[in-house]
Amino acid sequence: MPGDKSISHRAVMFSALAPGVHRVRGWLQAGDTLATLSVMQALGLRVSQEDGELRIESQGLRSPTWPRLDCRNSGTTMRLLSGLLAGAGIEAVLDGSDQLRRRPMRRVTEPLRRMGAQIEDTEGRAPLHIRPAALHGVEHHLPIASAQVKSALLLAGCFAEGETVVHEPARSRDHTERMLLAMGAPLRLSEDRRTCAIQGPATRLQSLDVMVPGDFSSAAFLIVAATLAPGSEVSLQQVNLNPTRIGLLHILQRMGASIEIADLAETSGGEPLGTLIVRPAALRATQVGGEEIPLAIDELPILALAATQAEGETVIRDAAELRVKETDRIAQVCDILRAFGAEVEELPDGMIIRGPRPLRGAHLSSRGDHRLGMLIAVAGLIARGETILEDEACIADSFPGFATILARLGAKIG
Ligand code: S3P
Repeated sequence: MPGDKSISHRAVMFSALAPGVHRVRGWLQAGDTLATLSVMQALGLRVSQEDGELRIESQGLRSPTWPRLDCRNSGTTMRLLSGLLAGAGIEAVLDGSDQLRRRPMRRVTEPLRRMGAQIEDTEGRAPLHIRPAALHGVEHHLPIASAQVKSALLLAGCFAEGETVVHEPARSRDHTERMLLAMGAPLRLSEDRRTCAIQGPATRLQSLDVMVPGDFSSAAFLIVAATLAPGSEVSLQQVNLNPTRIGLLHILQRMGASIEIADLAETSGGEPLGTLIVRPAALRATQVGGEEIPLAIDELPILALAATQAEGETVIRDAAELRVKETDRIAQVCDILRAFGAEVEELPDGMIIRGPRPLRGAHLSSRGDHRLGMLIAVAGLIARGETILEDEACIADSFPGFATILARLGAKIG
């Protein structure tokens, strides 16, 4: 599997917190992470690749010569970077594609301003203009669970005087906490792991020497493909099995999926990983909502496809956040699945899917959203007749080589 996108972004950004040489094996080379890499190079990191390993030389952050930093389509790049730069004594403008300019940014700019940041958004969106400012620690209560917002605030907390505390209403992915701890940061976590606190300033951490495990969110498309395509058996190795990422695994198991877990291990960066062996199974409907949502947020589109083949009514609720991803993933997933012949009802915060329904091939565009592109491809795999996917290039934002892997597993792709 290609390397985990969330961990790959963080490995490059966090190296700015530790002057010295960092080594990252298995780094994901995809559209979104390359956006982070080029922005961080503009901020002074020296990066080379040797034998599939990223070697990063960091002397901290310096002002970019060209202050417009292009985050392309990557929300993680923009939101984490706004926290990293808010207290770093740098002036910069963070901008991105039209798609990224439509996404909400007040969720980071408002709490950062409460820490003293000089950060202006453009009516709540990008571009974001950051100016040098002295930050102080603040206690934040996030209205929604978001690893991007939590990470931005912890990064700003590394440059702030005093303690920065972040409380979340539910657990979100915790790669930032694991990586900061592996770098020796003065970070405290509550027992339920919904609260974390960093004592600033903390800008001289230890170097990283890490392996990036495979991305569970990318594996999710192959897990569902293998579950639905008769006669398959797919083994996915070295996949990240961080409990804050594998909500889909538990949901599918509850629906009756056959997923075996083997070779459990842990990386030096404190991330669990293992092998997943997936075989076809008959699925039954389920209910998904509440605290399970942030643990499966990026996998809900492909879960919806699985639900079209499950016996009964699957209900996904509490997932309004899906409307502000790369696209409005509630509206788009409903639209796509209907085009394949599925029975789907849109809800303000989710959807109801009635199954099982036989799918027929469709002619659709990815709408510039990598996860929708992969959803259409996997739906096409189990649909009768031909499926044509337009605008497939965006799949490389997170999963370069997706079509090649699918073809190697036996899909007929022309
Ligand atoms: C991410 C966090 C999630 C997720 C995104 C990656 C991260 O977003 O949807 O794909 O790497 O922190 P939110 O934190 O906004 O929910």
